Amino acid sequence: MNLIEQAAKRLEELRLAGVEVPDSAPARHIEPKLAPIPTPVPTPAPVPVPAVAEKAPAPRPAVVPSPPVLNDAVLVKSRLVTLQMEQLAAAGLIYPNAPRSQLADEFRVIKRPLIANAMGKGAAPVKNGNLIMVTSALPHEGKSFTAANLAISIAMELDKTVMLVDADVARPSLLKMLGLPPAPGLLDVLVNETNDLSGVLLRTNIETLTILPSGTPHVRATELLASDAMNNLLEEMATRYPDRIIIFDSPPLLVTTESRVLAAHMGQIVMVVRAEGTLQSEVRHALGTIEACPVKMMLLNQVKSSKHSEYGYGYGYGYGG
Ligand SMILES: Nc1ncnc2c1ncn2[C@@H]1O[C@H](COP(=O)(O)OP(=O)(O)OP(=O)(O)O)[C@@H](O)[C@H]1O
Ligand SMILES: [Mg+2]
Repeated sequence: MNLIEQAAKRLEELRLAGVEVPDSAPARHIEPKLAPIPTPVPTPAPVPVPAVAEKAPAPRPAVVPSPPVLNDAVLVKSRLVTLQMEQLAAAGLIYPNAPRSQLADEFRVIKRPLIANAMGKGAAPVKNGNLIMVTSALPHEGKSFTAANLAISIAMELDKTVMLVDADVARPSLLKMLGLPPAPGLLDVLVNETNDLSGVLLRTNIETLTILPSGTPHVRATELLASDAMNNLLEEMATRYPDRIIIFDSPPLLVTTESRVLAAHMGQIVMVVRAEGTLQSEVRHALGTIEACPVKMMLLNQVKSSKHSEYGYGYGYGYGG
């Protein structure tokens, strides 16, 4: 007799003895209750997330490492434009192989201390000495004229390379003054948040002179000039190519705020003052806005020389430090 038969016999004995035994106890079973199958929670379809979103937002690097601002590849890729010497002459500008002129002589004197400071050969080292801004208190004092002449004069020294930047983004005038058509430039680089100048930098037939135009007009031009992207670009320009002298034509200090923002990055500032035009109080006020710049030079422009009855630069002197 197997165990089941023994259990059945025992139950029968109990039942006969009057013990209440549930019917067919061995067959009793529990209907398995099916737990409700949970409705599958739809797994969200994977959404492509940009890699940066997975990380905590990293602070922008102070200097964007690439693409470089001005290496040989950038220069090779940049567009070549031809400066017409007759156009430069017509605009009253200096040009290579021109007959000796008073203006060229004056710029020889003006550029000397600027170059010395830019190359670390001045009396004291100047931080960002290769970044030189030309500005003035008020409009029409001769900033663009001075910036262009200074750039050409320095570029004519064979061992010096110069970039002329039109940073007067609201009222650019350098391309026109040099006889060149409008072109993309600084604002386009800032809008695209890239340090790559190769698409906008213009090489010229004065081999050591490149031009960075102000670029496509933009409603937020002022903000762009004060942006982190601009700060990065300036720092990169100053440190990566310290042997290149970069001259910025800029707006007037007392009319807009852009020049003051730019001034904070400059090693040297040339302040143009129109002779018999600008009040002393205006000049003083303008100088107050650029106090932090290590080297400032003032140029008295359009001084009427009785000897030559020609307009020129009266004198320039450096101060500050
Ligand atoms: N020393 C100079 N000799 C001859 N012409 C000059 C001299 N300085 C300035 N000019 C002329 O005066 C005009 C105004 O000069 P420029 O455009 O350089 O001034 P600006 O300060 O840049 O003006 P803005 O504030 O409008 O930018 C130009 O036609 C320029 O060629
Ligand atoms: Mg100008």
